[in-house]
Amino acid sequence: MIARIAALAASFLLLMFAPSALGAEQLEATPPMGWNSWNHFGGNVTDADVRGAADALVSSGMRNAGYIYVNIDDTWQGKRDAQGVIHPNNKFPGMKALADYVHSKGLKLGIYSSPGPKTCAGYEGSYGHEAQDAKTYAAWGIDYLKYDECSFGDIIERESHGDRRKAAEIEMHGYEKMHQALVATGRPIVFSVSSPVFYKVWEWGSAVGGNLWRTTGDIGDHYYSMATIGFSQAGLAKYAGPGHWNDPDMLEVGNGGMTEEEYRTHMSLWAILAAPLIAGNDLTKMSPETLALLTNKDVIAVDQDKLGRQGDRVWAVGPMELWDKPLSGGAKAVAMFNREDGATSMAFNLSDVGFRQGATLKDLWTGKEVHARNGSYAALVPAHGVVLLRVSQ
Ligand code: GLA
Repeated sequence: MIARIAALAASFLLLMFAPSALGAEQLEATPPMGWNSWNHFGGNVTDADVRGAADALVSSGMRNAGYIYVNIDDTWQGKRDAQGVIHPNNKFPGMKALADYVHSKGLKLGIYSSPGPKTCAGYEGSYGHEAQDAKTYAAWGIDYLKYDECSFGDIIERESHGDRRKAAEIEMHGYEKMHQALVATGRPIVFSVSSPVFYKVWEWGSAVGGNLWRTTGDIGDHYYSMATIGFSQAGLAKYAGPGHWNDPDMLEVGNGGMTEEEYRTHMSLWAILAAPLIAGNDLTKMSPETLALLTNKDVIAVDQDKLGRQGDRVWAVGPMELWDKPLSGGAKAVAMFNREDGATSMAFNLSDVGFRQGATLKDLWTGKEVHARNGSYAALVPAHGVVLLRVSQ
């Protein structure tokens, strides 16, 4: 396994220096931001929905806040023709025209496939057609591919005969194959490695060209799902950096299953995690509160900080957790999370996060400067809520 990872890493390095390869470091120097159809539209998404999302990204101000990708998830695929070329189904009359439309708005278009023969929703995958599909995507003007394991898992099971090491090798190879095919097109296409299950993806996602990789199962639009996924990311910070990000799944903000405080926790935790910010709500019917949560400039700046460091847990005491994230210029984002069902008073010492008395604190959700007393900061944190600060000396 180690030899295999080393070999993958070596081929990745070679790719980085090959003139045809736009290195992963150049793509997505900060975590990708955009919108994806799955969490709200699921299998019903149409061309009109995607155009509507693109229009709304512009009119709402989200594009200018950094949400650039418009990603079509599963269920766009139709049949392959006699030459094996994939065509969209009748929900998507023309992918090139759709890409042109999205590009005309100053946005980028993403698409979805699988290294297996079928996608998770049972549509056509790319197995055996990797190079052909990559060329088709490039010709359409696609800028981002989410590549989701799905039925490839069955192939891995069958071919590995229960040997975990072999399973991991086949899994990595499946992703590497598509990465090579994307690079060969000469078009920069962000590569999103989705939900592989046989080996810890954070240890190999970047070696197979992943700009981001799913570290968890699917998020659901309720606090316990979001919190379980988000807080489970402790310890993964060292695997993330410019061009290659851990992906704890897309946002549920605005989908209706959480309170405003819970969605605030969702945004804050994803920002601390330097997670991709891929909105998953219906952008054409967004409340002002949802828009405010998605576009808070200070919170986005934490996620998108150019240092590119993922944050981590500092301490946890029962349901209270303190997390921090290093920012450029020596500052830090610091989050006090309350996972309890009732409001609770929380405090931390500036020294817990590497600062001394006299540090400057800004509450990023109220926009106000706040003050530590005797080297510690205390606040009432709402049920399932957060206080998110920017601390600088
Ligand atoms: C998997 C992924 C989801 C979504 C669906 C589509 O479950 O994890 O994010 O893409 O497939 O079928």
